[in-house]
Amino acid sequence: MSEKHTVIFTPSGKRGQFASGTPVLEAARRLGVDLDSVCGGRGICSKCQITPSFGDFPKFGVASKAASLSKWNAVEERYDSIRGLPKGRRLGCQAKIEGDVVIDVPPESQVHKQVIRKRAEARDITIDPSVRLLFVEVEEPDMHKPSGDFERLQGALKAEWGVEARASLSTLAALQATLRKGKWQVTCAYHVPSGQILQIWPGYHDSPLYGLAVDLGSTTIAAHLCDLATGEVLASSGLMNPQIRFGEDLMSRVSYVMMNPGGDVEMTAVVRTAINDLIGEIASMANITRNDIFELVLVANPIMHHLFLGLDPVELGQAPFALAVSDSQSFAAREVGLEMQHNAQIYTLPCIAGHVGADAAAVALSEAPNLSEDLVLIVDVGTNAEILLGNKERVLACSSPTGPAFEGAQISSGQRAAPGAIEHIRIGTDKEPVFKLVGNDRWSNEAGFEQSIAQTGITGICGSGIIEAIAEMRMAGIVDASGLIGSAEQAGTPRCISDGRTNAYVVYEGGSGPKITVTNGDIRAIQLAKAALYAGARLLMDKLKVDTVDRVVLAGAFGAHISPKHAMVLGMIPDCPVEQVTSAGNAAGTGARIALLNLASRAEIEATVRKIEKIETAIEPKFQEHFVEATNIPHATAPFSGLRATTPLPDVNFNTKSDKPRRRKRRTQLE
Ligand code: FES
Repeated sequence: MSEKHTVIFTPSGKRGQFASGTPVLEAARRLGVDLDSVCGGRGICSKCQITPSFGDFPKFGVASKAASLSKWNAVEERYDSIRGLPKGRRLGCQAKIEGDVVIDVPPESQVHKQVIRKRAEARDITIDPSVRLLFVEVEEPDMHKPSGDFERLQGALKAEWGVEARASLSTLAALQATLRKGKWQVTCAYHVPSGQILQIWPGYHDSPLYGLAVDLGSTTIAAHLCDLATGEVLASSGLMNPQIRFGEDLMSRVSYVMMNPGGDVEMTAVVRTAINDLIGEIASMANITRNDIFELVLVANPIMHHLFLGLDPVELGQAPFALAVSDSQSFAAREVGLEMQHNAQIYTLPCIAGHVGADAAAVALSEAPNLSEDLVLIVDVGTNAEILLGNKERVLACSSPTGPAFEGAQISSGQRAAPGAIEHIRIGTDKEPVFKLVGNDRWSNEAGFEQSIAQTGITGICGSGIIEAIAEMRMAGIVDASGLIGSAEQAGTPRCISDGRTNAYVVYEGGSGPKITVTNGDIRAIQLAKAALYAGARLLMDKLKVDTVDRVVLAGAFGAHISPKHAMVLGMIPDCPVEQVTSAGNAAGTGARIALLNLASRAEIEATVRKIEKIETAIEPKFQEHFVEATNIPHATAPFSGLRATTPLPDVNFNTKSDKPRRRKRRTQLE
């Protein structure tokens, strides 16, 4: 029996004893070390590169010597002369073990690489690709042992890679010519979840495989093109959802379907066309073709999800809000008319409930409340707010109808976040405002501001701007807790002007643009939206029997722009230390990217979604009660003592006697 040697792999620390002459790749496989290979150890792909470390390693108890590996061989020589091997590297399939040795597997030789996410609290993504390149040699046909070329390919894939393979008719149609052209050596793009061979190339083939993560929202469609092996995002793009012409919000699109037979088919067609356009655009941005894209992962709210899949969304518009299907779906892209590689696959994340979709599932995948030690409230703010609350013990979810006010709709000076829109505002003790515009770094009281706005002007207030404006007005004593704006005398500033039967605060007047004001109507619209959001969160807190949360994560493009302190002054979110309120950016898009790059995460989120407890706000009597109390700024009954300890909220009341009848009327409308 030949001598055994100790082999230690870093960074995994895995170790084992191997006989002289064992290739390093084989030792790695036997120990479960993550060392890549496409060619199966034939010295063609160079994916198996390793770096032997030489010297004394007391912590491992070995002395690793140059002679511990076989000499540089002809295959490595040839590879080095043609494509070049970095200094100190060997091919793991060629270098054989001859003595005790320590071997480092560099990150680029690991299949399961880590993609580091920028936020400290976010989990890194481990690459676990759904499509892999597998090189095989197939037995040639033999008249004495008749079998199909595909069956022999299946046999080779099973023997060499341990996989069961299936093929579409289009793959089979190309098979015989490809096998012969490659002299019975072929490379297959193998889709791990379905076992499908998506494409076959003659001989050894090594071009990157790409995938798309798509976040299909009611207003915009965003896509990220990723290299499936490295996780690198090569291009990102987005476009407006063309379904907007059938209705701005989700319910109006469902109404369109109800009123117009065939309306769902029409909306399905336009959204698929838009995604096809986006695929073409993003491929050309990255200098690839749409045929290089092998998989697409899609997340969407339930109505967008159904319309994309060609499912009637009408049931989602009325109680009991039944989904046609809630589980994840996997199918060929051509089934929904998407043009990518001809066998490309699509995976859609599961929906959580009739109002809480695959986009919320993607947020859960990105933010992992189910793994959190502390109690986290995650709010994806949009026209519907999706809310998740929980920790590793339990996770609850609901959605709350916030309406479009946070996006600047229903606001007198409101507009989408675009150059010219006020996005930040501060009001001093003199009750005078200063502000900043989208895409402009200067505050309005800084030198050069007037020149810097020559192109854009000052055109309105965007969603995050209106939140700051109202919160600042509350802190400055211009708005009282009930949401009433004081008159000039009450509030002590001539910027408060009479506006019909109520008052308005003038943020900006001058130049050729519009006069920009915050009216009492604006405040009412925001109160309704924020009360819905808070009430949803509060309902989930009731279910968990808690009065506080440890941290809050604001997700979504809008969430990324909201100032945590102002959101809390407004009472959008429960009282919580401001430093514990963070923004996750487009967490739904990130969740889609994780599902695209990490196959195991799909099973993980499917299991998580099954465990998430769904709360339907529309049928919870407590919701209305919480909603009414949450219309105050910040709240009628919750103390918000943490907030008040650091932030002054003047005890003003502009609800004078003569105002009382009008006030009651407004409250009735509000409720
Ligand atoms: Fe392909 Fe070593 S495994 S070159």
